[in-house]
Amino acid sequence: MARTIRGEPMKRDRKAGMVKRSLPLSKVYRLLEPGPVVLVTTAGKGKANIMAQSWHMMIEFEPPLVGCVISNRNHSFSLLKAAKECVLNIPTVELAAQVVGCGNTSGRRTDKFKKFGLTPVAASRVKVPLIDECYASLECRVVDMRLATQYNIFILEVLKAWIDPSKKNPRTIHHRGKGTFMVEGRTITLPSKMK
Ligand SMILES: Cc1cc2nc3c(=O)[nH]c(=O)nc-3n(C[C@H](O)[C@H](O)[C@H](O)COP(=O)(O)O)c2cc1C
Repeated sequence: MARTIRGEPMKRDRKAGMVKRSLPLSKVYRLLEPGPVVLVTTAGKGKANIMAQSWHMMIEFEPPLVGCVISNRNHSFSLLKAAKECVLNIPTVELAAQVVGCGNTSGRRTDKFKKFGLTPVAASRVKVPLIDECYASLECRVVDMRLATQYNIFILEVLKAWIDPSKKNPRTIHHRGKGTFMVEGRTITLPSKMK
C-alpha cells in the first residue's frame, strides 16, 4: 500500500530513493524567494522612509530594469506612487536585525533611520537618500506602474548604481519566510554562455 502523510500520498522517486510530500501552497513563495533582501528607501514631504523588500526580479540587463512588489498596505507604496523614485539598498548579514525592524514597523509613525541607527546619504540622480551602511545602492525611477493597481508591481529603471569595493564577499541575506534567512555563502564558477 502507498504510504501517506496526513492522508496525502507520498511520492517515491525510486532512482534517488527520495520521498516527497505535498507542500502547502502558502509556503510556495519560500522555494522561489528571489534575490537578496533589499531596503527600499522612498521619500515624501521632506521625510524619508525605509522598508524591507524581497519580492523583486531583474527584467532587463541594460538599462537595468527591476520589477518590485510593494504592497499597497505599506506606507512606501504611497510614497513611491507619488514621487516615482526610490533607492534599492542591499544590506549584508551584519544589518539583519535592522532589516527585520524596517520590515516590521510602518514609516507612517516611525522615523526608521533614527530608530534603527541607519545613515541617510544624498543620492545623485533621485531625491531619495541612500543608506550608508548598505554595501550597494541602486538609484531608481518608476518607468511603468500599469501592474501596480492589480499586482502592486512597480517597474523600476536603475539610473545609478553604487557599490563598496572593499566588500569582497558581501554576505547578503535571502528571506526563507517567518524571519528565517539564508546567508550567502559559497560561490562556484562553471563555463556558461549566460552573460
Ligand atoms: C524580510 C522581509 C521581506 C519583505 N518583503 C516584502 C516585499 O517584497 N513586499 C512588500 O510589500 N513587503 C515586504 N515586507 C514587509 C514590509 O517591509 C513591511 O510591511 C513594512 O512594515 C512596510 O513599511 P512601510 O509601511 O514603512 O512602507 C517584507 C518584510 C520583511 C521582514
